[in-house]
Amino acid sequence: MDVLVIGGTRFLGYHLVHRLLREGVHVTVFNRGIHGDDFEDRVERIVGDRKNYKKFYELFHRRRFDVVVDLIGYEPEDVEFAIKTFRGHVGQYIFISTGQVYLVTQNRRQPAREDDYYQPLIPCPPGEEGPYGYGVQKRACEDLLVEAYQFYHFPAVRFRCPVIHGPRDYTLRLYSYIKRIMDGGPVILPEGGDKPIRHVYVGDVVEAVLSVFQVEKTRGKVYNLASDEVMPLHQFIQLAARLLEKPLEVLEIPVSLMHEYEIPESISPFSGRWVSVLDPSLAGEEIGFRPTPVQQWLGDTIRWFVESYAGPDPDNYRYRPREQELAQWWRKMKHLD
Ligand SMILES: NC(=O)c1ccc[n+]([C@@H]2O[C@H](COP(=O)([O-])OP(=O)(O)OC[C@H]3O[C@@H](n4cnc5c(N)ncnc54)[C@H](OP(=O)(O)O)[C@@H]3O)[C@@H](O)[C@H]2O)c1
Repeated sequence: MDVLVIGGTRFLGYHLVHRLLREGVHVTVFNRGIHGDDFEDRVERIVGDRKNYKKFYELFHRRRFDVVVDLIGYEPEDVEFAIKTFRGHVGQYIFISTGQVYLVTQNRRQPAREDDYYQPLIPCPPGEEGPYGYGVQKRACEDLLVEAYQFYHFPAVRFRCPVIHGPRDYTLRLYSYIKRIMDGGPVILPEGGDKPIRHVYVGDVVEAVLSVFQVEKTRGKVYNLASDEVMPLHQFIQLAARLLEKPLEVLEIPVSLMHEYEIPESISPFSGRWVSVLDPSLAGEEIGFRPTPVQQWLGDTIRWFVESYAGPDPDNYRYRPREQELAQWWRKMKHLD
């Protein structure tokens, strides 16, 4: 089997490539070669920028792949040219999308089911152009794939993922909490800790991707992926602390007070409006998706960060001294009650 991975060297793609190599698949990876990897000569490498659409077309329009996994389709032009390039000579084209496609719509149901997609868009909340644009652009990518399937059976399968966890997660969102638990706390949760958490493990996304290879009935379809368990944010953080074998102090502090101390909400990356909660039952029914228990993947991920991660601190960790100052004041005020 011949598989092209567009991207493939940082996090989700990296794990996917290793899994494919274990399956004995012939893997071609296409990326700019900026991020290193350890695939050695076990993969075929093509170096290029996917934004150079002409070159991309020239490189691939005569090649046949059983499967193309597109990990870095972020703008409709990316997908438009992928369709033009692979149409008629790809067995399955798998597109990695995001739960944020639901968060930019009105009447957001939680957990979101695939059909909840069909809602009018909300206007962009002030100052939220980045995450809003991400959701809107991913929708535009998905819409092109639906159209291409309807018009000429372009064999696209889409996966919508919430926050993905696992070793090599370069977003450092989970690590932001790990750092704070490890330094003795506290962890400040800006909107309180009741927000439901239902993320997904990178290994489970990889298995889902493999499970639709050459499965005709999945063409034209979209599947949510997520863990089975849902828990409030404070419980998720408690579980992380237990796995780290550290005591934990959680402080639920109003955002307005944090702003007085010039501390942004991003110190708690899983608070806030842009973290989706998805219902993965359709994937369970149709492609046999069976997610790993949270405690297991959270433990594996934490272990990797503690034992193997050697990169920089999360950017939000620079607010740590101010957080400690605020926490001290907050505790003092609570004791005055
Ligand atoms: N992480 C999450 O929590 C999360 C949640 C939901 C959805 N997703 C989705 O997951 C996907 C990203 O996964 P990932 O970053 O882990 O994938 P990845 O495939 O492991 O890493 C990204 C790859 O893209 C390459 N790349 C970046 N820009 C490129 C360009 N212009 N041309 C060619 N190659 C380029 C990078 O290598 P070079 O830099 O060397 O080119 C790298 O190999 C996205 O579709 C995202 O929407 C992620």
